[in-house]
Formats: sequence, structure tokens, C-alpha cells
Amino acid sequence: MTIFLTGASGYIGGAVAVRLMRDGHRIRGLARSPETAARLRALGIEPVPGDLSDTALLAREAKAADAVINAASADDRAAVEALLDALAGSGKPFLHTSGTSVVGDDARGDWASDKIYDEDTPVDPVPGKAARLAIDRLILDAAGRGVRSVVLCNSLIYGTGPGLNPDSVQIPVLAAAARKTGLVRHIGRGLNIWSNVHVDDMADLYALALQRAPAGAFYYVENGEASFAEATAAIARRLGLGAPQPWPVDDAIAALGFGTAVYSLGSNSRVGGKRARAELGWAPKHASLIEWIEREMPVG
Ligand SMILES: NC(=O)c1ccc[n+]([C@@H]2O[C@H](COP(=O)([O-])OP(=O)(O)OC[C@H]3O[C@@H](n4cnc5c(N)ncnc54)[C@H](OP(=O)(O)O)[C@@H]3O)[C@@H](O)[C@H]2O)c1
Repeated sequence: MTIFLTGASGYIGGAVAVRLMRDGHRIRGLARSPETAARLRALGIEPVPGDLSDTALLAREAKAADAVINAASADDRAAVEALLDALAGSGKPFLHTSGTSVVGDDARGDWASDKIYDEDTPVDPVPGKAARLAIDRLILDAAGRGVRSVVLCNSLIYGTGPGLNPDSVQIPVLAAAARKTGLVRHIGRGLNIWSNVHVDDMADLYALALQRAPAGAFYYVENGEASFAEATAAIARRLGLGAPQPWPVDDAIAALGFGTAVYSLGSNSRVGGKRARAELGWAPKHASLIEWIEREMPVG
């Protein structure tokens, strides 16, 4: 298949591209700079110069491809609308990358939620995540417009990515802050829990969904969970630093921004990925974020 991929130079998109090229697919990847284009080409990805705001380009590429994968942004509605309009009536697959902060709460590290969402649990998002959830629903509704549309809702992804960006957006951020300051910190008390998945298992699920996910399918992508207190304790052991300390949320917001501090690192986001296992036979191989941090997370 020829696949048009947005986010080809990113952590998720890069891993998906490498995985799909192994299956013999041809990847055309959106690249927003000449440097990125050259680096994509060296990986075997055909660069498509442009960015998500060029909706005419997105439509052209979507029409010319056999499938489209959006891994650049979970939050760009205009780009998604352009891609869906171009694919309407074609029956082609459209895989969209979302994230489980749509089920996140406002714990700011201070409590562990006992609520675990599966694909049948209704979601009532915090105000900052309502727009992302609305995009997910728009994509699922496109099944009624002749698109084999699928949403992959990723939990915390860990592991070293094989594409141009090896780093994910949660654990590497905490590890980088720890290396810089010599202090490992979690938001508030670190009691909040996130589901997680290894980047290679995530990429396998994209490959399976591309092959055979039915139109309108929504999958939580998860294979385990940990609290941020547990994750930061593992970071401290891996980096040889002292016990994790609370990071007052206002200080974390000032250092990392609201979205990262409150949604990505401070919330609870617990999901059960039942549907991918039952429907696609997804069998993830990596089961422990903590072991990965302790044994494999880059220390430098
Ligand atoms: N990593 C996770 O654990 C995780 C989990 C769930 C959901 N998500 C969501 O999944 C999406 C991708 O995450 P990621 O971790 O792969 O991020 P990333 O490593 O920062 O990659 C983002 C990719 O999208 C490209 N991009 C961003 N804005 C663009 C635009 N306006 N036009 C064209 N290309 C654009 C970037 O290009 P450049 O190389 O030019 O910057 C890069 O290739 C994000 O929305 C993120 O919130 C991530």
C-alpha cells in the first residue's frame, strides 16, 4: 500500500513508519522543513514538503494514497476535516492518533483514581480535552461517509522510538528535568496513575488496524499501568539520584506548561484496551514501564 503519513518525523509517526515499511508498505511522510525531508528520505520515507495547515495538499495526498495515518496531532480539527472530506466515499482506511488524556482528571498528582475506562465507558472530558474528544467522534462518524476510519487512543507510550524522534512526551520529560536539576520530581504527591504501552507494541497495533480494523473502530492502546510515584522512583534508581520529591503544581506549570504539567503528568488516565485484543488479536509483548526505565531508559 501507499500510505500518506502525517507526523512522520515524530515519535509515534516514526515508529509507525518503520513498522509499516517492514511490511513492505510505501510511506509518503509530511515534512515541514528541508532538513526533516532529507532525514526522512534517509530512513526510506518519501518526504512530502508541507504542513497541516495546507489542506489542499492534505486532500491531494489523501486522494492519491491507499490509506492515511494522522500521527502529527490529536488536536488539529481542520486537518482532520480536510483528510476526511478527501477520503469520503473511498472506503480507504484513515487511522487517527488520539491520546487517553481525553479521560484524564484534575488530580494534579494528589490522588489515585479507581476509574478504569474501556471502549464502552462513556467519557465526560475535562474542559481542556473536550475539543480532542470531539475530533475523535468526528472521525468515528466518518464511517457513515464511506471512510474506514479508526481512532487509536494511546496511553503513556514508553520505549526508545526507532524514527527521527526517539523520545516520548512524559517519562523523557521527567528524566530530562531530573538530569538538569539533579532532583527527580512528580507532580504533587505522584499518586496519579496512567496506563501505558511500549512503542513497538503500539506500532504493531497500527499495523493490525491498517489491515483489518472495521470502520468506526475506537481502541484504547494500553498494556499495563503505573503511578507517577512508581515511575519517578524507577527514574531515580536508573539515574542514581535521590528519592523523588513532590513538584508543586504551579512550579511545574511554570517550567513545563499547563498541558504537560496538569494533563500529561498530573492526571489519572486509566484505560483497558480490551477491544484491540478481542477484535484484532493484538498481543503486546512488553508489559512493564518500570522495568524499561530501570533497564533500558537512556541515562545520558
Ligand atoms: N507520545 C505519547 O505518549 C502520546 C500518547 C498519546 C497521544 N499522543 C499525541 O499524539 C500526537 C503525536 O505525538 P508524538 O509523541 O509523536 O509527538 P512528536 O514526537 O512531537 O511528533 C509530532 C510530529 O508531528 C509533526 N507536526 C506537528 N505539528 C505539525 C504541523 N502543524 N504540520 C506538520 N507536521 C506537524 C512534527 O513535525 P516536526 O518534526 O517538524 O516537529 C512531528 O513529525 C500528539 O498530538 C500527542 O499529543 C502522544
